[in-house]
Amino acid sequence: MHTLEVSLGDRSYPIHIGAGALLRADLLASALRGRQVLIVSNSTVAPLYLARLKALLTTSQVAECILPDGEQFKDMAHLDVIFTALLTHRFNRDCTLIALGGGVVGDMTGFAAASYQRGVDFIQVPTTLLSQVDSSVGGKTGVNHALGKNMIGAFKQPNAVLIDTDVLQTLPDRELSAGLAEVIKYGLIRDLPFLEWLEASMPRLLAREPLALAEAIRRSCENKAEVVAADEFEQNDLRALLNLGHTFGHAIETGMGYGAWLHGEAVATGMLMAADLSARMGWLALDDVARVRHLLLQAGLPVMPPAELGVEELMRHMAVDKKVKNGELRLVLLTHIGTAVVSAAPELLLRETLAAGSRLGVSL
Ligand code: NAD
Ligand code: GLY
Repeated sequence: MHTLEVSLGDRSYPIHIGAGALLRADLLASALRGRQVLIVSNSTVAPLYLARLKALLTTSQVAECILPDGEQFKDMAHLDVIFTALLTHRFNRDCTLIALGGGVVGDMTGFAAASYQRGVDFIQVPTTLLSQVDSSVGGKTGVNHALGKNMIGAFKQPNAVLIDTDVLQTLPDRELSAGLAEVIKYGLIRDLPFLEWLEASMPRLLAREPLALAEAIRRSCENKAEVVAADEFEQNDLRALLNLGHTFGHAIETGMGYGAWLHGEAVATGMLMAADLSARMGWLALDDVARVRHLLLQAGLPVMPPAELGVEELMRHMAVDKKVKNGELRLVLLTHIGTAVVSAAPELLLRETLAAGSRLGVSL
C-alpha cells in the first residue's frame, strides 16, 4: 500500500493506493468521524463492490443511494435523489458520504457533500482508472447543465481517497483507455520522464498488470496532489494546466450529447487538437504532434473529432468554457512535450485546428 498526501493545511488528506485497499477497514475508519454513512454508488458498481465496502463499516449507521449509471444522469435531478436519501434517513451534519464509483458518482457525491446542510464529510472510493488518477483527488465536484459540462459545482476536498487497484480488473476496455487519457495528460503537461515511461509501458498497462497500473496511478496522483496543493482554487494558471484538451473535449461531449463520447475519449482527441494548435503557434514540431497521436492510439483512444460537429458548433460550445476571462477564450497549449501554458490563440489558427479532422498529427 502506498500513501500520498494532498497538503492543504488542516484540510490535508491521504490518498491510499494499492491492491486490496477495499479490504482495509482501518484505512476507512481513520477517515470517518460521525456514525452515519451514506454510500452513493450506481447500478453497475454497486452489485460488484457495495457489499465489500459495507463489510468495512460494521459500527456505523449505513444507508445507500444507488443512482442510474451514466454521464447523462449527472444532473440536478439526480443530485436531488442523494439529498432525498439523506433527508429520508434523517442524516445530520455529522454524517459522511462515501462515493463508490467512477467520476460521475464521485463528482455528484462530492457536490452533495458540499451543499447538504452547508457541508458534510465525504470520502472518495474511486473505481475507474480515470477517477483514481484524476477526479477523486483535488476537490472539484459538480454536475452538468444541458448548456455546459460541469457548470454547476463547488470545491470540496474529501477526507480521504481509497484506491483499490484490484477493482480495475472488471473495468471495460474502453473505460480503461479513457482513464489512460488523463494519465497521459500528466506526462504531457509537466512530467516528461513519466511520459517516456508511459510510452514504454503501454502494453503492460493495457494488459492490466497490477504493478504497472499501481505505478501509473501513483505517479498521476503525485502530479495532481502537487498541483492542487499549489493552486487549490485554480486562481493562477497552474491548476488550469490540468485541463489540457478539456476545452476541446467539453465541446465534443456537449455537442455530441453527454455519454456519447466518454470524457476521457473527448479529452484524448482534445489533447491532440491542443498539440495541433501548439504546432500552428510555432511551439511544437509536427513530429511532436505525431508523437502525441501515436501514444493516444497506442492507448486505444480516438484521435479524430466527430465529423458531425462542424467548426461553428465547436466554437459555440468552447465559448462556454470556464477558462473564458473577460470574453477571451484561453486554452491550455504545449510549448514543448512535457511543458504546458495557458494562452489565448489567434482565432484563425484555432479554426484551422477545428477543421483539421483526420489530418490532426499527420500534417499541418
Ligand atoms: P463514469 O463514472 O461514468 O464510469 C465509467 C463507467 O464505468 C460507468 O459505466 C461505471 O458504472 C463503470 N464502472 C465504474 N467502475 C467500474 C468497475 N470497477 N468495474 C466495472 N465498471 C465500472 O466515468 P469516469 O470516466 O470514471 O468519470 C468521468 C466523469 O468524471 C465525468 O463526468 C468528468 O467530468 C468527471 N471528471 C471530474 C474531474 C474532477 O476533477 N472532479 C476530473 C476528470 C473527470
Ligand atoms: N481535472 C482538473 C482539475 O482537477 O483541476
